[in-house]
Amino acid sequence: MELKYLTEAWKRGADFLGTRYAILCGAMTWVSESNLVSAISNEGGFGVLAGGNMPPELLAKEIEATRRKTRFPFGVNLITVAPNFKDHIEVVVREKAPFVFFAGSIPSGRDIEQAKASGAKVICFAPVLSLAKRLIKQGTDALVIEGNEAGGHIGPVATSVLAQEFLLTVTEVPIFVAGGIGTGEMIAQYLSLGAAGAQLGTRFVVAEECVAHPRFKEAFIKAQARDAMPTSQFDPSLPTIPVRAILNEGSKDFNRLQLELLNKVKSGEISREEGQVKLEEFWVGALRRAVIDGDVERGSLMAGQSVAFVKKVQPVREIIEELVTGAERKLEEMANGRPPAIGQLCP
Ligand SMILES: Cc1cc2nc3c(=O)[nH]c(=O)nc-3n(C[C@H](O)[C@H](O)[C@H](O)COP(=O)(O)O)c2cc1C
Repeated sequence: MELKYLTEAWKRGADFLGTRYAILCGAMTWVSESNLVSAISNEGGFGVLAGGNMPPELLAKEIEATRRKTRFPFGVNLITVAPNFKDHIEVVVREKAPFVFFAGSIPSGRDIEQAKASGAKVICFAPVLSLAKRLIKQGTDALVIEGNEAGGHIGPVATSVLAQEFLLTVTEVPIFVAGGIGTGEMIAQYLSLGAAGAQLGTRFVVAEECVAHPRFKEAFIKAQARDAMPTSQFDPSLPTIPVRAILNEGSKDFNRLQLELLNKVKSGEISREEGQVKLEEFWVGALRRAVIDGDVERGSLMAGQSVAFVKKVQPVREIIEELVTGAERKLEEMANGRPPAIGQLCP
């Protein structure tokens, strides 16, 4: 399809990423390995490898494997709170990964400097405006804002609110929007507010090229938006980061574990930090059980509310084509001031 509007609308994002389309597939632990990442980049999007809790030598191998499968740009996502984080930075520097994403918490100025010294472009997640300003000062080249409609670990604010806060005020670096995006039409809306591009995760889980277990994909296809719910923190003495996932027995296991650990923290049997580490270990293990082993009952089905738009297993090419076509159509409609047909308003 020839693009009349999109090329201009996401030029800043596509130029920054060096891609045909400013559509990123955000890193997903256990899911975003070399097959999915290279397929996304080969189809004109931007794939991001998930460093997660990988042993550093495995991360190096995944970067090499991705390079073998695509000649197009891709990124590596590092979780600042992961036990191997410092080693992971050394790996991306040594392997000269072209784009490094810092997730989990706010990276230090030194982390950013270290990654950039190898020539990489650095992208950080910004939860609030004041931190965005600091990250820009420290040299981040772009930002991702991720609303709490997203799958996995989430912040407290909706994508629509973050978009207004950031896109209308921050102009220094490109901003990519994530969380709850399931259609090209929605991408067009964020582009019209000034986004450089969009990051999706949930919709790409069911890609043919994704190695996730068929039962994991099936659970996504069956789920409605309202099935993808965030966890709650029971008590501030054991702070937990909410995780959005499709409700199952695994969600109840998490609640039971949280209660058990909370009692231990309160009685002084374990420290708050030990409790938090155990909760995070639960997620890594539970996500692996669901994604790799296909245990969709007790494993974790991390998914965004955008699971509403997951209808079938599709090749990456088809998913990207749908997104691009929808975004172009919406931008054309907006440019021509054409109101939607009556039939579209009242089905
Ligand atoms: C199964 C799953 C695992 C994820 N793991 C990570 C991760 O390891 N690091 C990260 O920064 N984001 C992670 N995310 C968030 C995605 O990268 C992406 O930003 C998010 O899925 C976008 O929102 P959406 O789910 O509505 O598409 C994960 C999301 C899912 C669904």
